[in-house]
Amino acid sequence: MKNTLFNNLVLFAVLFLLPLQAGAQKYKGLALTPPMGWNSWNHFACNVDEKLIREVADAMVSSGMKDAGYRYVNIDDCWQGARDSMGFIRPDPERFPSGMKALADYVHAKGLKLGVYSDAGWKTCGGRPGSRGYEYQDALTYAAWGVDYLKYDWCNTDALNAKGAYLTMSHALEAAGRPIVFSLCEWGDNKPWEWGAEIGHLWRTTGDIYHCFDCVVNYGTWNSWGVLQILDMQKPLRQYAGPDHWNDPDMMEVGNGMSVAEDRAHFSLWCMLAAPLIAGNDIRKMSPETTEILTHQEVIAVDQDPLGIQGLMSRKLGDIEVYVKPLSDNALAVCFLNRSKVPQEVVFDWSKNPISDAVSNVSYDFRKNEYSIRDLWLKKEAGTTGTPLKAVVGGHDVLMLKLTPKK
Ligand code: GLA
Repeated sequence: MKNTLFNNLVLFAVLFLLPLQAGAQKYKGLALTPPMGWNSWNHFACNVDEKLIREVADAMVSSGMKDAGYRYVNIDDCWQGARDSMGFIRPDPERFPSGMKALADYVHAKGLKLGVYSDAGWKTCGGRPGSRGYEYQDALTYAAWGVDYLKYDWCNTDALNAKGAYLTMSHALEAAGRPIVFSLCEWGDNKPWEWGAEIGHLWRTTGDIYHCFDCVVNYGTWNSWGVLQILDMQKPLRQYAGPDHWNDPDMMEVGNGMSVAEDRAHFSLWCMLAAPLIAGNDIRKMSPETTEILTHQEVIAVDQDPLGIQGLMSRKLGDIEVYVKPLSDNALAVCFLNRSKVPQEVVFDWSKNPISDAVSNVSYDFRKNEYSIRDLWLKKEAGTTGTPLKAVVGGHDVLMLKLTPKK
């Protein structure tokens, strides 16, 4: 009898515990398409509390965002209070008096998921307690609360090795036993695209975004970047992205002060990049234009295409750049971006512009195959590739098309 018990214990250890220790890896399959949700930082910075998070969860349902595919309600920096005498992290008691478990329950009851933020260093960027030295304890705490997504930042990390630090938290999340999407926020400093795929589900590729279309904001020791600046930094990285491991060009600024055309272009480009679609505006008070952009099903479908191919810039015609993204069923998304502030006329002869992508190993020869064209933003059929495209693209705007093979 004793022997049987002992044998069972050994078997249990071999089957369950040892693999956790030896080959521990991220939870697989949590982000087969780019994660969609909302995050507090871009609009609210440190001003977060449980009332806001509950109202945002309500708004995600009432605005149609949940129906459009958004799931994660992510609290960024400054939710933390102090650690208790046992080292457990506690939320700021004034801002989150009901506690995080109650908040997670509220969000889950709406069919949504809850995200939190921490930092690999000893303090977060906002000066709250970081997870350094508390990784396993914090992961257990998040799991007990019912957290579904962790964004893990890189401030105050001194001499830490980036891959090692993110690996520690990845192992900790795995050991905690709850599937939690792991979002690496290391700003691209240590090339996370080269080592992040086994550790997490997405990794930031740049410093912070700013709500401008074409600008750089200099803070002395660091910059934040406009939409075009971030777009240009994605070009060498597309081969690293794919299902369950995405390049993250940062959370969106749609609805945070750019023009409607700029917001539309920003959203279209993030979809062309197969970027995580994490809204960063106050979704409780959105203009109809902002709501229409964020919930546009046909444009979102380009982002969420199951092949998960990050788009590429295929042609440059003066101020117009032509982005393409291979889609399932031999379809193709094509996005004409006008980088200038003035409207530009585009004449594009498909037959003279075959498209080939060495990374995904697909090509489109419009002399051999004809495609039907749909204008995604206008939700209208727009001819075929048999005749040259003629269009005017507004300043800082896009024309976004889906090409489908004609039967
Ligand atoms: C860093 C991150 C931002 C945000 C802030 C919070 O700057 O890159 O996205 O999380 O920290 O302090």
